[in-house]
Amino acid sequence: MVSRVIPVSSFDFVLFGATGDLARRKILPALFHRFQIGQFGENCRIIGTSRSELTTEEFRSQTADAVREFGQDVETTPEEIAAFTALLDYAAVDVRGETGWDAIRGKLRDDAVRAFYLSVGPSLFTDIARRLSETGIATPDSRIVLEKPFGHDLASARALNGALRAHFEEQQIYRIDHYLGKETVQNLMALRFANSLFEPLWNSSHIDHVQITVAESIGVEGRGEYYDKSGAMRDMVQNHLMQLLCLTAMEPPAQFAPNSVRDEKVKVIEALRPVSQASIARGQYRSRNSDENGDGYRDHAGNAASRTESYIALKVEVANWRWAGTPFYLRTGKRLRERVSEIAVYFRDPPHNIFEGSGPVHGNVLVIRLQPDEGITLKTTIKDPGPGGMRLTGANLDMTFADELAESGRPQDAYERLIMDVIRGNQTLFMRGDEVEAAWAWTDPIIGGWKDAGDTPQPYDSGSSGPDDSLLLIHRDDRQWRGIGA
Ligand code: BG6
Repeated sequence: MVSRVIPVSSFDFVLFGATGDLARRKILPALFHRFQIGQFGENCRIIGTSRSELTTEEFRSQTADAVREFGQDVETTPEEIAAFTALLDYAAVDVRGETGWDAIRGKLRDDAVRAFYLSVGPSLFTDIARRLSETGIATPDSRIVLEKPFGHDLASARALNGALRAHFEEQQIYRIDHYLGKETVQNLMALRFANSLFEPLWNSSHIDHVQITVAESIGVEGRGEYYDKSGAMRDMVQNHLMQLLCLTAMEPPAQFAPNSVRDEKVKVIEALRPVSQASIARGQYRSRNSDENGDGYRDHAGNAASRTESYIALKVEVANWRWAGTPFYLRTGKRLRERVSEIAVYFRDPPHNIFEGSGPVHGNVLVIRLQPDEGITLKTTIKDPGPGGMRLTGANLDMTFADELAESGRPQDAYERLIMDVIRGNQTLFMRGDEVEAAWAWTDPIIGGWKDAGDTPQPYDSGSSGPDDSLLLIHRDDRQWRGIGA
């Protein structure tokens, strides 16, 4: 099956922070791949901006380098890169000053979709939004796209939302959580709501518990200064894991439309119980070296007394009719054994075992793997094949998306999907302002709790599965974590 590519309408995509890391690694290569696949309609243009005084030729050449270095592993010809970079333009802008805005205005067309992508630090969000509005560069149909973090607590998120809404309507604001652009995350919705098999069982009568894991093998090298003010709770749980939890736990929306989906997600967040400190395990990876060449979290953060967590596990309860009695265990951390992101849904054991003495009968486990090796596995119990009577054994029903995708083309990077949705004006996979605020309202007291208690994260070894406390968190309930990379 070859996927259909429907070209988007003509656009002017203005990229603030065009020479920065995210732009080079993700945004520009994503745009290139959508161009390469034929998704750009007629007259699409990308206007890079940053403080640097670059010529358009220099920006084109830097972008060509970025595409070659960070683009996906697909055959790419020099002609394709040249055709793509011919769509690029550049203007140096002082986003806090007066210079450069006229140059941007002069490059924009009245009949093209205008998208302003703010790939810049959050401290610049409101200044840029205000300028875009006051200079008349942003029209009522323009879209503004922002990267996380959206504040660092409820008060700052509210202030940011308020400042943005002074200049843009909510339907113009695209808050990116790149997890929502991942193929398998969208597949979670397809699995739940395009199949009749799962939904009748998708509740606490049939599901014992759910484990959501986002484990990374890399540390915070190079990002220590930012990360130390944030920690795993703000950097990953408040946004990415929260989104995975919402999509797993939400009620079926009436339709796959922006507000239907987002309304249901907000209801999940609002149903979350406050989490007590006893239901949290925090950790910090320690150095592998005993000498002065430390490579532990505190070395990377440049803060020998840091109390910021690079790992966190929480037991979360969704207090509603569907989920009462079914805990969700969330965990995420850096420098763990392997890079694994997955949602594992543990169904209850069969109520009665008719196969006494034939081996254990366990509940089924549905594992939705986000990365690597995207796919879905259902753990089942079957008869051990062959003679020897009735003996039971475990077997997996396995579906690796790579097999499906091999036919329909390479998997697209999350940013490809999300950027095209911005142009199409589809906000379904973007976070609404109230959703972000609800997530902070739940997060703030958790962070406040360990601050008040003066809690210090427990050290764990690089390459391990996290701190011992995280094992206790789940063992206490007579359950076990799935192995990370096991
Ligand atoms: C980012 C976090 O949002 O997501 C990073 O700030 C993290 O700390 C990254 O490494 C993980 O994204 P992915 O797509 O590699 O799982």
